[in-house]
Amino acid sequence: MCGIVGAVSERDVQGILLEGLRRLEYRGYDSAGMAVLQADGSIRRAREVGKVAALADAIAETPCRGDLGIAHTRWATHGEPSRLNAHPHMSGDRLAIVHNGIIENYQELRDQLKAAGFEFTSQTDTEVVVHLIEQEYRRTGALIEAVRAAIGQLRGAYALAVMHADEPDHLVVCREGSPLVVGVGIGENFIASDQLALLPVTDRFMFLEEGDLADIRRDSVKIWDRSGAPADRGITRFEHGADSADKGEYRHYMLKEIYEQPKVIKATMEGRVTASRVLEQALGTEAGKLLENVRHVQIIACGTSYHAGMVARYWIEELAGVPCSVEVASEFRYRKHVIQPDTLFLCISQSGETADTLAALRQAKAAGFRAALAICNVPGSSLVRESDLVIMTQAGPEIGVASTKAFTTQLTALLLFTLALARHNGLSEQQEAEIIAAIHQLPGQVEQVLALDSDIAELARAFMDKNHSLFLGRGAMYPVAQEGALKLKEISYIHAEAYPAGELKHGPLALVDSEMPVVTVAPNNDLVEKLKSNLEEVRARGGELFVFADKAAEVKAGDGIHVLQIPPVHPITAPIVYTVPLQLLSYHVAVLKGTDVDQPRNLAKSVTVE
Ligand code: AGP
Repeated sequence: MCGIVGAVSERDVQGILLEGLRRLEYRGYDSAGMAVLQADGSIRRAREVGKVAALADAIAETPCRGDLGIAHTRWATHGEPSRLNAHPHMSGDRLAIVHNGIIENYQELRDQLKAAGFEFTSQTDTEVVVHLIEQEYRRTGALIEAVRAAIGQLRGAYALAVMHADEPDHLVVCREGSPLVVGVGIGENFIASDQLALLPVTDRFMFLEEGDLADIRRDSVKIWDRSGAPADRGITRFEHGADSADKGEYRHYMLKEIYEQPKVIKATMEGRVTASRVLEQALGTEAGKLLENVRHVQIIACGTSYHAGMVARYWIEELAGVPCSVEVASEFRYRKHVIQPDTLFLCISQSGETADTLAALRQAKAAGFRAALAICNVPGSSLVRESDLVIMTQAGPEIGVASTKAFTTQLTALLLFTLALARHNGLSEQQEAEIIAAIHQLPGQVEQVLALDSDIAELARAFMDKNHSLFLGRGAMYPVAQEGALKLKEISYIHAEAYPAGELKHGPLALVDSEMPVVTVAPNNDLVEKLKSNLEEVRARGGELFVFADKAAEVKAGDGIHVLQIPPVHPITAPIVYTVPLQLLSYHVAVLKGTDVDQPRNLAKSVTVE
């Protein structure tokens, strides 16, 4: 994790670096730092514990002016969050680096460098890298060669940006396992972990590939691939509006992103469906060929994206009749699998940079899975570039660490994919048209749920002083309950567990008492009567119920039963609509508890380490 940003310009870069860090805070926010080359030829470094705002305050007091610089926002892996462990790290006072990733052989390198006389001031793996580059610089006398030689000795994942006071005209950067993008300006160039960081200064980007090394100067960018051959990575223009990274009138990014859902669900459908059909070609020119003869789907993802995969499994098996397995990437990558013939490998990731998901994808390709399909929100991300077919969600940048609009757009994209697959497997035109009609209603239905915001805020009060909660659902609503529980625990720090409602009596019912609120999603589907019996079991044990239900489900409010009516929805699209009240519930509980809604403790938006 961690975010890095760098600039080489003719103007002062401290403001550019600081804004870049603010935009990268989703990658980590326990400390931040910056190093710039000052007019007198010396490097000035500033580092602070805490969020980027703390660094900004320090720099406001003692500026960090210069036309070449690098900066970093950290998510601690080696060593606690402290000023000494914060980046940039330096070797002497002429060489500085920032690093995103993990160096696995850092201990042995550290021992060697110590024996060679280098002194360490931090507990980080990064300090090993900076001393190693310094050692190579003394040998080669050229920064680019020093970095090339040093990375040849590293094992692990890294994106690095390096500057040397004796070579004031350039930055040297490289990537292996962690993302890095070059922002192309006029008379100035930039680098960052994510293009979002550089949107205030450019909309033109070059995406470095694994193993690339690059020399970034004011008026040129030279890239070499892993073999040392010059590489042309092409220039891509950014697709979303630059202001999408602003909070606007909303108090938190999370709330803004919840409210954007009608718009982004629509954007994810647009151009991909007619009034009654999915346009298979719009899912990718190769989609038809890829979906033919698929006999099994293997879905891999983490966190919220995994929950999207769980919902998709119900859809794929019900509508396409194709067996589907779903597994979290961190488990999949470390076990032996039986590859069924004609398996389509499907990765879901908002960021496209989640280390476990990428590792699983690479492993699957090496193991001979038929083809890889990605559902992703970030154009140009590693996942997008390494997959055979990509369906982009059109959520726009998601800044809140708790994923909201990414999830509902993933579901939208997955449903379109399911329909395309189902058409190859006997779904009738009439069935397809019925579901497409339901998909077209989604933006309006989500609007209707958003209109219940103040009622949901009232319900949230009951959770303020609770330490535990249960979320129940049946069928495809079970992963919706899981996602609701994940939202509540990550931003309000209330322990929340999700169960398929039928499992309650097999153990968790023992936990139920008046201190254990039980949240349930109850659309009007063929499982609703069974679900109502499960709710009786809870009520009989004194549990307080919070039920989001279709009017036709006839769940009656009463003593200890709070019912919020959700507009009628098609059973297939219900998981998308019923997610929204659970997002709002978590949001309001977190606001009432006064937690850091957009940047909850211990987490980061993009998990680029194992
Ligand atoms: C959920 O709110 C989290 N942000 C987290 O579970 C996230 O979904 C997970 O880390 C996977 O991220 P990805 O979609 O970017 O791969």
